[in-house]
Amino acid sequence: MSQAILAKSVTKTFGTGPLAFQALKGVDFHMHEGELVMLAGPSGSGKTTLLSILGCVLGATSGKVTLFGEEITGLPESAMPKLRLSYIGFVFQGHNLISSLTAEENVSFQLQLRGFGLKESRNEALRLLERVGLGDKAERKPEELSGGQRQRVAIARAVAGAPPLILADEPTASLDAKSGLSVTEMLRELAKERGHTVLVVTHDSRIFHLADRLVHMEDGQFVEMSS
Ligand SMILES: Nc1ncnc2c1ncn2[C@@H]1O[C@H](COP(=O)(O)OP(=O)(O)O)[C@@H](O)[C@H]1O
Ligand SMILES: [Mg+2]
Repeated sequence: MSQAILAKSVTKTFGTGPLAFQALKGVDFHMHEGELVMLAGPSGSGKTTLLSILGCVLGATSGKVTLFGEEITGLPESAMPKLRLSYIGFVFQGHNLISSLTAEENVSFQLQLRGFGLKESRNEALRLLERVGLGDKAERKPEELSGGQRQRVAIARAVAGAPPLILADEPTASLDAKSGLSVTEMLRELAKERGHTVLVVTHDSRIFHLADRLVHMEDGQFVEMSS
């Protein structure tokens, strides 16, 4: 299997001088293409920081990160937006949908950003919404959808245009147990069907069984799980 993510000795320090805080203390991490990994760990352990670096939102302070064979560390900040568009789909805890747009428009807007034409974007958005079980909700605005339905829209948007890597930061945190599980099952199904590599940050032990592999961070580092 090919390597999707390769991170070596990654550190991240926020601030400088006496206020400097090292959020990542030398992280080694890898993922194979097509794998679904869950990342757990206490609040403040550096999970979001790592996800942001892998997602080309934040630069690392030191170390090396390679996505699908392309080294992203050391590239200028101006290169980040293009990397995000070509490699990454994000799902957040709060769905982050645009409230004035319908479900279909939220997804098709993402497709247009990825270079699809208007009509093609609409058709593909509708197809993806059907796939996540929301074919009849395409014209609804986020506020007219349940939390679980909004996360399904967010998943459709994240996979729209087929970015190879999907990064999800506590995607079930604001959902009840049942919809949290069904949203994660949907994410897994879609990813396996379409070959996306998926990294999910989560505290939610009720969804751990859906991971191919579970990893743990504490205090800015990966730790072995005692099982
Ligand atoms: N922009 C920032 N400036 C300063 N400190 C930060 C910043 N972002 C995160 N941190 C600190 O880095 C540590 C790790 O944060 P984070 O990656 O968000 O943890 P987690 O997602 O595991 O809860 C925390 O102590 C947090 O306060
Ligand atoms: Mg976090």
